Amino acid sequence: MLRRLESAARLAARSSYSPYSQFRVGAAVLTGSGKIFAGCNVENASYGLCNCAERTAIFSAVTTGERKLRAVLVYTPTRTPTAPCGACLQVISEFGADAEVISICDSAPRLETNLRALLGEPFSRDDLVRAARRPAGGKGRGTR
Ligand code: THU
Repeated sequence: MLRRLESAARLAARSSYSPYSQFRVGAAVLTGSGKIFAGCNVENASYGLCNCAERTAIFSAVTTGERKLRAVLVYTPTRTPTAPCGACLQVISEFGADAEVISICDSAPRLETNLRALLGEPFSRDDLVRAARRPAGGKGRGTR
């Protein structure tokens, strides 16, 4: 399974649209039902709109109804592996609190860890639920 994730991420990196950073990234996710979805980073002349490879892959999985992530693998054609950025960790946490996170590159070093180790205290729906049950500041909070 790891091999399949690796080759999906390597293939996706070939489609990377990264004319501004020249930093190619491919990602592949393994879902709860055992399917694999891949994605690449997609940049934009308006830099803030760049989308990371991990999020491209995850959004693609969710688009087909997959809502559980077992593993996320990131490939960069570099000499050292690249961990997912903070924004991607937050998005992974939405669908894979226990997901494995693996980063590979073009040489031997690799990272093999998990979401919990990389993002200790994620913001989650629990924060929203707790706030709704026990509002701080009483009535009218957040209205002005
Ligand atoms: N990038 C990813 O695709 N994934 C990450 O986890 C880190 C950064 C992309 C975004 C941008 O296209 C380029 O790498 C440079 O930041």
